[in-house]
Amino acid sequence: MRTLREIPALRDTLGECRRRGQRIGLVPTMGNLHAGHLSLVETARHHADVVVATIFVNPLQFGAGEDLDAYPRTLAEDQAKLEAAGCDVLFAPATRELYPRGLERQTRVCVPEVSEGLCGGSRPGHFDGVSTVVSILFNLVQPDVACFGEKDYQQLAVIRKLVDDLHFPIRIVGVPIVRADDGLALSSRNGYLDADERATAPELQRILTELRAALQAGAPIEATLASGLTRLSEAGFIPDYLELRAADLGPVTASTREAVLLTAARLGTTRLIDNLTLTLPR
Ligand code: PAF
Repeated sequence: MRTLREIPALRDTLGECRRRGQRIGLVPTMGNLHAGHLSLVETARHHADVVVATIFVNPLQFGAGEDLDAYPRTLAEDQAKLEAAGCDVLFAPATRELYPRGLERQTRVCVPEVSEGLCGGSRPGHFDGVSTVVSILFNLVQPDVACFGEKDYQQLAVIRKLVDDLHFPIRIVGVPIVRADDGLALSSRNGYLDADERATAPELQRILTELRAALQAGAPIEATLASGLTRLSEAGFIPDYLELRAADLGPVTASTREAVLLTAARLGTTRLIDNLTLTLPR
């Protein structure tokens, strides 16, 4: 695996691959890789001849007071994991390489509607930061396929719309959530949890699973969500949101069948997100 830090070297390397007719798969990450990221690499391998992973802790997607400085940076371990997973190229640029004019003067990409509410409601500007960096990476790598985790359900919806609206000729592949044995969705932020919080954290998925069963059995939506918020608080979470949306993140209507239950909740200072898809009864 080659690790590249600068744009010209990335363009040269991928230009050669493209001239050889190789299909390129992209896995954008912020590093501190876990099995969820490695399943993105594995999926990219199925769809492409050359897998490019990126590691960039993107300052543009962190709000004031969020964990940009604390975000774990573990490049050497990440390189070893990517190499073992069969990644071909790692692009790990410095901030000034992607944003040479500084953050304030950076051109930004905004994907309206789908970026609003849910995580976009509690993290203003977050999805503009994601959409901007992902657009830059799409332009630099020009992948045939790009893989994103379904844990970040809203992010995946934002990126699908971004690709559609800006006519990027890229196939977006969503990859199922990878969970620990106790059900907790893997996340780089799980490392912030202390032992007690880590023991409580799987309750998030257990509560979602119970709510899903109730909703699939026809329980009224509003009352089920209200009881879910109470359950989350009783378990020790500070819920940010708990919502049922149509699978495309539009509102649930009488004709909605494919839906998604989404939550974000804080445990101590750590913000966790999770979601489960479900089919509503007629
Ligand atoms: O999901 C992430 O890790 C990030 O939001 C992404 C897509 C790599 C953009 O910085």
